[in-house]
Amino acid sequence: MFLELFLGFFTFLLIWDFIHKRRKNKLFKNAGIPGPKGLPLLGNILKLINENTETLTYFNKSMRTKYGKIWRMWFFHQDRVFVQDPKYFESILSSQQVISKNNSYSLLLPWLGDGLLLSTGSKWHARRKIFTPTFHFKILEQFVEIFDQQSTVMAKKLYDKADGKTVIDMFPVVCLTALDIIAETAMGVKINAQMNPDFPYAKAVTEVSQIIATRVIKGNQRYDIPFMITAPHIAFRLKKHISLMHDFTDTVIKERRVALEKSIADGSNKPLDVSDDMGVKKRMAFLDVLLQSTVDGKPLSNADIREEVDTFMFEGHDTTTSGISHTCYLIARHPEIQQKLFDEIRQVIGDDKNKAITTRELQELKYLDIVIKEGLRLYPPVPIIGRMTDSDVVLNGKLIPANTNITLLLYAALRDPEYFSNPDEFIPERFLNEKIDPFANVPFSAGPRNCIGQKFALLEMKSTISKLLRHFELLPLGAEVRPMQNLILRSASGINVGLRPRVYS
Ligand code: HEM
Repeated sequence: MFLELFLGFFTFLLIWDFIHKRRKNKLFKNAGIPGPKGLPLLGNILKLINENTETLTYFNKSMRTKYGKIWRMWFFHQDRVFVQDPKYFESILSSQQVISKNNSYSLLLPWLGDGLLLSTGSKWHARRKIFTPTFHFKILEQFVEIFDQQSTVMAKKLYDKADGKTVIDMFPVVCLTALDIIAETAMGVKINAQMNPDFPYAKAVTEVSQIIATRVIKGNQRYDIPFMITAPHIAFRLKKHISLMHDFTDTVIKERRVALEKSIADGSNKPLDVSDDMGVKKRMAFLDVLLQSTVDGKPLSNADIREEVDTFMFEGHDTTTSGISHTCYLIARHPEIQQKLFDEIRQVIGDDKNKAITTRELQELKYLDIVIKEGLRLYPPVPIIGRMTDSDVVLNGKLIPANTNITLLLYAALRDPEYFSNPDEFIPERFLNEKIDPFANVPFSAGPRNCIGQKFALLEMKSTISKLLRHFELLPLGAEVRPMQNLILRSASGINVGLRPRVYS
């Protein structure tokens, strides 16, 4: 009886899978989207069995050679369309229709909830509306002091290793700095991660990012039940670390709400304070904005706020870490560019390396702007993004059916020789001399769901990188990077440099 039921169910699955795939494959064929033949039920999943976050770059390259800049694959019963063509980027990213994220992001859900990154429809619109004014330049200006203070801590700590010989992997160093920065700007708390490197929250973030990125491409880990059966120890670690991060943000939110209610009760309700070593500053953290915001006249609950704060903590630190570390790596390996940067810094800020940098000075560092742009092009911190079509849509003249997973391969597109001359070379001047298609250069994405933290990120990057260059000469030491597309772009061999204290002659 059981065997008959099982066989009946299995036959039903096979027929359903066959009909579903035949219908969609026909639509893809009509739209001119090629792809490999797949097996019943499994689709093309076996193609990925030996792939990992490091080999993905080469895998995408080989698919592109075979099928062009747009192709499709089947992950079990789910279709996926992969795109690395700026023409498609333009129609996908500027569309007001295609704003939902694809189901790779669902793996982030237990951690980030339905925050700005993952939400869609009216919830996303309402939240985006609350946050947009928060990223106004005037507000970001108040964070420049935090960027400067935390990068000073980073520079001080790095002197211990600045002997001109020691290989330094910048990623873990910058990660703690970026974490200190985002905790203070997003939550209004100092977590002193740099002074306490074993900070459990930082460890949890790194480990959870790695587990989730592996789950994206490992067939046995992709869905919850097989994941729990085949890798129970990893599933347990994931759960434990997510609880740790949630407990941390919950505590901060509760404390800030009490402080806000107290200030309302005693009539002193002004933008909340973040105290620092120098005294007390009036400054609004992102969390404070949320505590005082309403949607349809109702304040946001602690749970609503937690998903947004977790999203900012995630989106706002690993990304900038990747960007800063890779850009330092490139600067270290291009001494002539480093010299130009240092000359500009001396001209704009002067020779006192301990002076705090001002917003105006940061804005005047124009050469640094293009160096960072080129760093983000070669090593985009967010190498892949995804969308899901909620209804049939025409994108770049092709009909893409409803419920199609679209994966936009930013890393590949940013090195496309059709759009960038000598695409693998580090040439900041290309941003002055070449006419660059705005949809070919999209490290922050584009359109309605672009990165809300773009200006914040660029200011933070300019502040930290200029601080390092004021204190140190960056040297080309250690192994070359081996890019890993692990949610954000990391390197399997570290992002290595050497440092020597800067001599002002
Ligand atoms: C160099 C650093 C950064 C890069 C390259 C970057 C890149 C991106 C990209 C490509 C997206 C689109 C994601 C998607 O479509 O799924 C995005 C979205 C987002 N980013 Fe960033 N980001 C950076 C820094 C930041 C920072 C510092 C913050 C916060 C302070 C932030 C907050 C967000 C948020 C909340 C979203 C979701 C926006 C929405 O969907 O409305 N990012 N970022």
